[in-house]
Amino acid sequence: MARPSEFLTGVERTFGEDEIIVSKTDARGIITYANEVFLRVAQYTEAEIIGQPHNCIRHPAMPRCVFKLLWDTVQAGKEIFAYVVNRAKSGDHYWVFAHVTPTFGPHGEITGYHSNRRYPDRDIVTKIEGIYQLLLDEEKKYPQCKEQMAASTAVLMNLLKSQGMSYMEFIFSLCSDSDGKHADEALLKQSEALCANA
Ligand SMILES: Cc1cc2nc3c(=O)[nH]c(=O)nc-3n(C[C@H](O)[C@H](O)[C@H](O)COP(=O)(O)O)c2cc1C
Repeated sequence: MARPSEFLTGVERTFGEDEIIVSKTDARGIITYANEVFLRVAQYTEAEIIGQPHNCIRHPAMPRCVFKLLWDTVQAGKEIFAYVVNRAKSGDHYWVFAHVTPTFGPHGEITGYHSNRRYPDRDIVTKIEGIYQLLLDEEKKYPQCKEQMAASTAVLMNLLKSQGMSYMEFIFSLCSDSDGKHADEALLKQSEALCANA
């Protein structure tokens, strides 16, 4: 299946706080399983989605560096959490808080990946949207995918470094109490400054 057109409706799809959107892939990121919630929210049938690369639901508002971090992390055998906006078949979109993990075979080799996604906190999505927009603005300065990826990765890593946080610490600071919220507001300001100077 070719990636669907970039047509977007601007309509957000939601799902229940008690629901989990699940997909599994092989080691190349080809979808091998999608649960009922995935199919309903993404608006695909099982026949349409199984066997497709996971970027078939990619939304253009996602910075490249987030997926680079995702792949670098899971290919290293580690788990990752990420806020992701996906594009449903109709062009609607839906935000998720994803937990992606590698699946290991009997000899410790990675045989595939598994993603469980929950409905995200709206306040956090608003903040993440701001940060992703800054990363996208950085990417737009370059014509080639590779350059875009390198540029947004550099901005993301620099701003995490400037806050003394790893990516995972940053993600969990968003989920935490008022101290955590304060930390990510500071991070957004810092990222704006870094982009302005880039
Ligand atoms: C288990 C797993 C789940 C993934 N889930 C998503 C997803 O929900 N949305 C998405 O856009 N990419 C997802 N990806 C990442 C895609 O494979 C791909 O890297 C991303 O869509 C960027 O595609 P692009 O390189 O063509 O821009 C997932 C990858 C894995 C291994």
